[in-house]
Amino acid sequence: MRDDELIAVAERYGTPVYVYDFDEIRDRAGLFRQSLGPAIGLLYAVKANPNPEILKDALRWADGLDVSSGGEIRLCVNAGWPASALSFAGPGKTDKELELAATVGCGSISVESRDDLRRILAAGERTHTVPRISLRVNPLELTGPFALKMGGKPTQFGVDEEEAPSVMQEIAKEVSAGRAAYAGLHVYAGTQCLDPEALVANVKNSLRIAAELGAAGALKAPKINLGGGFGVPYYEGQAELDVASAGRGIAAAVSEYAQAYPETSFVIELGRYLVSPPGRYLSRVLAVKESRGKTYAILDGGMHQHNSASGNLGQTIKRNYPLKNLSNPGGTQKTTELAGCLCTPIDLLGFGASLPETRVGDLICVENSGAYGFTASPLFFLGHETPAEIGWERGESRVIRKPFALSEISVRP
Ligand SMILES: Cc1ncc(COP(=O)(O)O)c(C=O)c1O
Repeated sequence: MRDDELIAVAERYGTPVYVYDFDEIRDRAGLFRQSLGPAIGLLYAVKANPNPEILKDALRWADGLDVSSGGEIRLCVNAGWPASALSFAGPGKTDKELELAATVGCGSISVESRDDLRRILAAGERTHTVPRISLRVNPLELTGPFALKMGGKPTQFGVDEEEAPSVMQEIAKEVSAGRAAYAGLHVYAGTQCLDPEALVANVKNSLRIAAELGAAGALKAPKINLGGGFGVPYYEGQAELDVASAGRGIAAAVSEYAQAYPETSFVIELGRYLVSPPGRYLSRVLAVKESRGKTYAILDGGMHQHNSASGNLGQTIKRNYPLKNLSNPGGTQKTTELAGCLCTPIDLLGFGASLPETRVGDLICVENSGAYGFTASPLFFLGHETPAEIGWERGESRVIRKPFALSEISVRP
């Protein structure tokens, strides 16, 4: 989206506001397809941005969805997705969620521990269904610059690679007794990686695990979920991922594996790569003040609406997301602290940011905000209304989620 289009959206709908460019999301999915080829399916990881209109749109560009809660299953089914296209993963799934997943017929429920397996089977019995299960494996190693690691170390995610052969035997017993159907393997060990070689190595590692389990007599995996981890450049000095290069390496590794296992299909699950750059968060400057040599621009938004840009979603070093002053692009560069409107010193969206001088009323854009923004934020902290979410498509804007106030869910005496 162009800056003038963002300014028009802020004027029309008010601020703070999230804007998602649907055309750009489709283009990114298209680039994935082009780079990885037809043998590798694409799952969209709903946790990155579960807006129902994005989920509906994903029917056009994704083959399925990665979901991690009963709430996400409901959102996807309501958006028109067949449950068979959903892959349900997560270390802690409640009985209710497992019953829902079994009843609607999720395409895959990932087994993340022996207890998880027992609980999934019990949910199948209670609902008189045969759950389709995948074995999620926590690989022995994850090498490369993955900013977030879910595997390659002790973790709550998946069954350790060392234990996988014996859990596979249990799964095989249950499958032959008709209590479960085997959907395949799931390896998801890390994310936010911008190094194509590390992404290829990660996929090769997933294929190695699959081949070794196969050689040890495991059930043939109808599908291998190879993981993902495609990153986006949030911080200064980071460059866009070379998807073509990652795609070439991944496609070659998959094609080699497929020669030995022609009946297996493959998917990769991606969240932020697809939806983060196409999303922007806009907020206006309410006040500008000097404090002991530092300049503070105080925004009408903040960490309660964009927790990840404030560095409070697990980042150890606080760094700036890409920031723009849309109202004063030619202004003199000035080091500015962009403070949110909350009464807490951790509410900052810019840390010594070099920005064209900010003035009261200026419109500030936090770019790369389409993933882990709205729903990964403590939206009701301090009781502000939530920001609207706006969809942008072929030059037209529309509200895809209205603002919501805490008072609307208060219990009245
Ligand atoms: C199992 C699984 N799949 C997919 C994702 C999506 O990650 P990203 O948005 O970085 O692509 C995550 C992120 O935590 C995950 O844990």
